[in-house]
Amino acid sequence: MNSAFNWHRCGSENFKLISSSAGQYEIRSRAASANRCPFSFVTWQTASRYKMYAGSYDQLDAGALPEALGFAELRAQIVGQAFGDVLESAVGTGLNLPLYDASRLSSFTAVDISPGMLREAAPRAEALRRRLSGAEQQRQQQRQRSEAAGAADGTAGPGVQLLVADAAALPFADRSFDCVLDTFSLCVFERPAAAVREMARVLRRGGRLLLLEHSRSDNPLLGAYQDLTNPAVQPMSKGCAWNQDVKGMVEAAGLRVVESQRHLAGTITLLVAERV
Ligand SMILES: C[S@@+](CC[C@H](N)C(=O)[O-])C[C@H]1O[C@@H](n2cnc3c(N)ncnc32)[C@H](O)[C@@H]1O
Repeated sequence: MNSAFNWHRCGSENFKLISSSAGQYEIRSRAASANRCPFSFVTWQTASRYKMYAGSYDQLDAGALPEALGFAELRAQIVGQAFGDVLESAVGTGLNLPLYDASRLSSFTAVDISPGMLREAAPRAEALRRRLSGAEQQRQQQRQRSEAAGAADGTAGPGVQLLVADAAALPFADRSFDCVLDTFSLCVFERPAAAVREMARVLRRGGRLLLLEHSRSDNPLLGAYQDLTNPAVQPMSKGCAWNQDVKGMVEAAGLRVVESQRHLAGTITLLVAERV
């Protein structure tokens, strides 16, 4: 992961690809550029777009309409299943972070292509880090009581990291995580199938992929309507292609689908898959 610690310049923005150590989230700019932009032009355009959306994202995507459509409950349902070492792909402003059950997590890592979105996510990441530390201290105290030995160190606690990275080229070794979660982002990736393959690659055997995504309806008429309107819908919806075959991409990546729920006439898919 070390190359991720270098400075990069993309368009007008200089940034460091790493953030976080015990409550510090460094997604900073600096005056001089160093390395070439590591992302494709299209992907960097997406990052620039999301830099503009960052400030208003929560009002739109966690506001009255998504609430009325039941997105908040669906988010809670999928995020609540995360356990162990967790990677969230395209975390955005971190809307999911308050929904994790800290007592089930060992560590939390999140990537996004947009430093602007990650800046918005930083306070939620810090709150999650505190919850994870609290849960870890409780576990240590329980162990101490049952073993009557050893001192709880109570210092660093489990890690929380935010990284600027492309979901289709994750800077992690194979089999690094117990769970990979992605919500409402596959539809905006330049290379969604490659991103799903990356999610599968970094999962441990028995690990879980947790998805909540826009998807092509299984109703043929509605599906055809989505195909027809997608070129017009995409530019109006922050680049979201709302007609993707989510289950097909997951199966093509070699994962075993253990649960697939369709919502809103099949245009939203909640899916759990396992790496066998
Ligand atoms: C619609 S938002 C969803 C954010 C968050 N997952 C949520 O549920 O609110 C899409 C996110 O994908 C990120 N993104 C787009 N292309 C990406 C890529 N290639 N790699 C990583 N993140 C990407 C954007 O910056 C944005 O934060």
